[in-house]
Amino acid sequence: MRLFQKSSSTTSILQNAHPSSWREHRFGLSGSRWERLKGKDFWVTGAGTGYGRCIALALAAAGARVFLSGRRVEKLRETVDEGTALGIDVRQCIEVPVDIRSEEDLVRAVKNIQLVTPSLYGLVNSAALPQSGEAAFPLTAQSGACWTNLLNTNVTGQWLTCKAAMPLLSHGDGFRILFLSSFAGWASTPGFGPYNISKSAVNTLGVSLAAECGVRYPEKDVQINVLVPGEARTEMNQGSTESPYAVVSMVLVLLSHPPGGPNGYFFSRDGRHLAFAYTSEYPRSLLTVH
Ligand SMILES: NC(=O)c1ccc[n+]([C@@H]2O[C@H](COP(=O)([O-])OP(=O)(O)OC[C@H]3O[C@@H](n4cnc5c(N)ncnc54)[C@H](OP(=O)(O)O)[C@@H]3O)[C@@H](O)[C@H]2O)c1
Repeated sequence: MRLFQKSSSTTSILQNAHPSSWREHRFGLSGSRWERLKGKDFWVTGAGTGYGRCIALALAAAGARVFLSGRRVEKLRETVDEGTALGIDVRQCIEVPVDIRSEEDLVRAVKNIQLVTPSLYGLVNSAALPQSGEAAFPLTAQSGACWTNLLNTNVTGQWLTCKAAMPLLSHGDGFRILFLSSFAGWASTPGFGPYNISKSAVNTLGVSLAAECGVRYPEKDVQINVLVPGEARTEMNQGSTESPYAVVSMVLVLLSHPPGGPNGYFFSRDGRHLAFAYTSEYPRSLLTVH
């Protein structure tokens, strides 16, 4: 199965770094790659919990300014409090509550970001919903409302966020977008059909947007990619014992990649490069360029 081929990968990805020692390990990044994130502006959705929270705080630790989005303001505040407890300078963490299902809300969020900066360097799409437990066999028994809400969040919401952010992202010489997908996007596990479909669609959204932006902005350093974060204990996955900080190293490796890096590729948090549909694995290590 091509997905699990180990033909190309980025080795030495740190997955068990304790966040409180971030100054020592910099989540596995070299000094120069860590420096590349400093002073950059990132927008992270789903930043109030789970992977989004860890990614937002790691970016802030590296000296980036981070706009934190999610629907619940109290969760965004908890993220900032966790950053303070980790000794991260959170003065550059800015809460921008938003419901990504609403284009109006996203336009308002972008206006709020523009009060602070005219451009964004990166967008991390982490906001998503899990499969609801409404029906054991959702593809034949789930309500239309449930299907619509999942797809509106996991697919349309991701697309609307990219669309709203594009004027700010395309303002500079280059930009990064990262979609958090799932192995569900390659799977057909019974009971998870709508979620599987949503993640498969996110894969296609990521690669299609990468191709479109590559053509639309040929002079810019565009790197839009899809990352499979794997299992971790978050709000949507209470069954795992793994820390969501395990994803941070690979995320930072992708977001700090110098010009000429991957655009329209698939990666796993452990450093594996993945294939999806007609897209083959990115052929080079992500760490050969400093
Ligand atoms: N954890 C895992 O084992 C695992 C495995 C594979 C893939 N993933 C993927 O990793 C990503 C992050 O998930 P997670 O595990 O960190 O789960 P999580 O803790 O449940 O995070 C999901 C976040 O999305 C936000 N969100 C949901 N609907 C939203 C909306 N309409 N507008 C704005 N924000 C919304 C939630 O905040 P509010 O409710 O406050 O809006 C929440 O902070 C997802 O794409 C997920 O599919 C996770």
